[in-house]
Amino acid sequence: MHTAQDPYDAVAYPSFPYPDTHPDRLAAMAILHGLSPVPVERCRVLEIACNEGANLIPMAYAIPGSEFVGFDLARLPVERGQERIRELGLKNAWIFAGDLLDAGKELGQFDYIIAHGLYAWVPAAVRERLMAVCGELLTANGVAFVSYNALPGGHLRRMTRDMMLYGVKDIEDPQQRVPVALGFLHLVVEARPEGDAYRLLIEEQLKKMEKLGPEVTYHDEMTDAYHPVHFFEFVEHARKHGLQYLSEAVLPPPTDPCYRSEVRQALKNAAGDDILKQEQMLDFLRARMYRETLVCRAERVVRRDFPAEHFRRLLLASQAASAPGETSGAKIFTLPGGIRMESNHPGAIALLEALEAVWPRALSYEEIEPRLEGTGLALDGEGATLLMRLAVTKMIELHAWRAPVAQGVSERPRASAIGREEARTRAHATTLLHGKMGLDDPVVRSFLKLLDGTRDRTALLEAMKAEFPAMAVEELEKGIEPSLGIFHRAGMLEA
Ligand SMILES: C[S@@+](CC[C@H](N)C(=O)[O-])C[C@H]1O[C@@H](n2cnc3c(N)ncnc32)[C@H](O)[C@@H]1O
Repeated sequence: MHTAQDPYDAVAYPSFPYPDTHPDRLAAMAILHGLSPVPVERCRVLEIACNEGANLIPMAYAIPGSEFVGFDLARLPVERGQERIRELGLKNAWIFAGDLLDAGKELGQFDYIIAHGLYAWVPAAVRERLMAVCGELLTANGVAFVSYNALPGGHLRRMTRDMMLYGVKDIEDPQQRVPVALGFLHLVVEARPEGDAYRLLIEEQLKKMEKLGPEVTYHDEMTDAYHPVHFFEFVEHARKHGLQYLSEAVLPPPTDPCYRSEVRQALKNAAGDDILKQEQMLDFLRARMYRETLVCRAERVVRRDFPAEHFRRLLLASQAASAPGETSGAKIFTLPGGIRMESNHPGAIALLEALEAVWPRALSYEEIEPRLEGTGLALDGEGATLLMRLAVTKMIELHAWRAPVAQGVSERPRASAIGREEARTRAHATTLLHGKMGLDDPVVRSFLKLLDGTRDRTALLEAMKAEFPAMAVEELEKGIEPSLGIFHRAGMLEA
């Protein structure tokens, strides 16, 4: 094992849950593409470069029947993660300090492999080993998630990176490097006229870095290794290790050029039916900067036509809230981020209302089917096209696993033990849907800690009064039901 001090020991990397890496997401994308992934409820998951396990540990908590293994070169974050696993009493999670260069068959085979934020930020030998490990350790129906900096957008990121590194070439102190580098970029921006293309490009990078914070900028933008790749290079690398392109972890958003008919025609003219060539050409249109690519074994048959029977094997969920539409019979569905869709399709309305009634739980198509009778929505080709459109707009979510969330708010609500533990130790809590909930408000944070399943509403109010004696009792009381509703909808309350 390599024991040299790791930069991630010197400057801690903020570690979060990443829903796109969850085996549920990987399995759902695999099913959508016609594969038969191993059920999420009883699978083996490997996270390469798991840092302190902020992604892996909540997964292990929520899926007790599966086994989760993670490792990372940086010793200190791993020790923090090991301590958390002990405190939470998890028997299905194991993380250790180790170098990917030394990892291999002794770890066993895995149904899901996750490598988030590694491939494009490490030396060539590590990159090579990452793909080799996916090739060696992925089971026959396995799915691997690898995120990386993509080209051509990576060229833009490299431009700012090079300037930043030049600006701090004489500065060793990690605490100084980021502010000085960002200051240098501000200087470049201010020297250019308003509206100038060069200024806009750098400004956009600056905004992103300032939002993500100095620790992320220190590692993601200023590491020694920075190796963005074209999609075709990544796929070729995977092919050398017996793997093939499955899909991205997330469907392209509705604004993506891939849905425009004139673009599709032009791609077909240029690349025929070669989906990989088409994807690469699309990346040039998108100025793609980042990818979260899923790969599977080369022998699997991947279907990209999304037939109806694939949806039958998936679970559906929706967090859209319905309201009457402008015209008679129409409904407006609004997602938490504000995206709205108006529909007068009786089938779409019945489907979304059925899902709205059970959120945050998911339903199988069989469970929804009785509600769709006589609405004109059947799981045929047309029905599959509609479901796909709803999935692209995020009006419905596709799942392969039922998260262990509460059906409603019970008399003595219980938040997940991991959420309560995070409320004690972090600025965010991970939901059972693997989302991240900010806990900046001290009242919300304290309230979450109290939801251990032993307190009814009266006991909750008493505990809050003791914790916040300066606050008006009515105010505390008024907040209880809405807060419980928020925790329930976020998937924080346990079944
Ligand atoms: C940008 S961080 C990403 C961490 C985590 N996966 C995430 O997305 O939050 C990169 C991680 O890769 C780890 N790393 C770098 N080289 C490694 C190697 N050769 N073997 C194992 N881990 C490595 C670092 O210690 C660091 O924790």
